[in-house]
Amino acid sequence: MKDIINNINVLRTKKNAIILAHYYQVPEIQDLADFVGDSLGLAREAEKTNADIIIFAGVHFMAETAKILNPNKKVLIPDILAGCSLADSCPTDKFEAFIKNYPDHLIITYVNASAEIKALSDIIVTSSNAKHIVEQLPKDQKIVFAPDKNLGTYINNISGRNMVLWDGSCHVHNQLELDQIMKLKIENPNIPLIAHPECQAPILEIADFVGSTNGLLNYTKSDSATKYIVATEGGILHQMKKASPNKEFIIVPSDEFCNCNNCEYMKMNTPDKILHVLQNEINEVTLSKYLIEKAYKPLKRMLEMS
Ligand code: 13P
Ligand code: SF4
Repeated sequence: MKDIINNINVLRTKKNAIILAHYYQVPEIQDLADFVGDSLGLAREAEKTNADIIIFAGVHFMAETAKILNPNKKVLIPDILAGCSLADSCPTDKFEAFIKNYPDHLIITYVNASAEIKALSDIIVTSSNAKHIVEQLPKDQKIVFAPDKNLGTYINNISGRNMVLWDGSCHVHNQLELDQIMKLKIENPNIPLIAHPECQAPILEIADFVGSTNGLLNYTKSDSATKYIVATEGGILHQMKKASPNKEFIIVPSDEFCNCNNCEYMKMNTPDKILHVLQNEINEVTLSKYLIEKAYKPLKRMLEMS
C-alpha cells in the first residue's frame, strides 16, 4: 500500500492532478485524496480547481458533474463501472415522456442523475441544498422533483410543497428499516438518530437530525452527545471517527453479518485503480459539447442559489 501511495504522490505532482473523493469511498482513498466531501462540496471543488486532471473517486454521475463544470479538464474515474442505483432508476426516455405530462412545471433534479437527465432539468440540487433552493421559489410554483422520491417527500413535508415526484430511490438508503432503528433505540435509549434524506419517510420523521453526508458529519462534530445512531452509508464513519475519536457511532442496521449499508458502486474504487488511471490516463469521462452546455445551466443555477 505504501508503494502505491508513493507512486500516486509522485504522479499527481508530475501531472498536476487532483484526487477528489466522496465520503463513501474506502478509508484508504479518503486518506490519500486532496479533497473529501459530499456531492455539493465535490462539485464546488471540481469547479474551482486549477489541476489539469481530476481523478474522481466517487460514482459516475459525480464524475460527469465535474466534467460538466470543468469541460476543459481531463476527468478520470478509477472504475468506469461505478454507477448509482438511484441515477439508474431514472432512464432518460421514460423521464422525458413523464415530464411532458407537466409542461408548466419547473423540473428540479437531485444531482444523483445522469448528464442527460440534468440536461432536461431547470435546477439541480444536492441533499445539502435541496430545501434551501426549493424554499427560494414562489409557494405556488409547480415543480416536478426527480429522481429520489424519499428526498422529494422529505422536502414536501418540511416546506409544505406538493412537488410531483419521480418514483426513484437508492438501494442502500431505501432498504434501511424503521424496525432496525427502533431496536437500536431501545438498546440505546436517548441516543440521537441522524439520517440521510435518501432514507424512507418513517425514519426521517423520527430522526433528531436529517442532512447530507457533510451535514451529518458536521452535526456530530458540533453536537454535545457522545453516541449516535447513524442511518446512511457506512463510509461516512471514517471521517466521523477521525473528527470525534471519543464518540461512538452505531451504523444502521449494525448487524456484523450484513453489508447492506455499503454502496458497492462507491467501493469499486481502490487505491490500485487510482494509480492505474493516473499512470495510463484511461477511464476518461466524455460528454458531447451539446450535452455539457445543456446540463451546465441547471448546475450553475444550483451553485448560484446555494
Ligand atoms: P451527498 O449529497 O450526501 O453526498 O449524497 C450523495 C449520495 O450518493 C448519497 O447516497
Ligand atoms: Fe447512488 Fe445510493 Fe450509492 Fe449514493 S449510496 S452512490 S445514491 S447507490
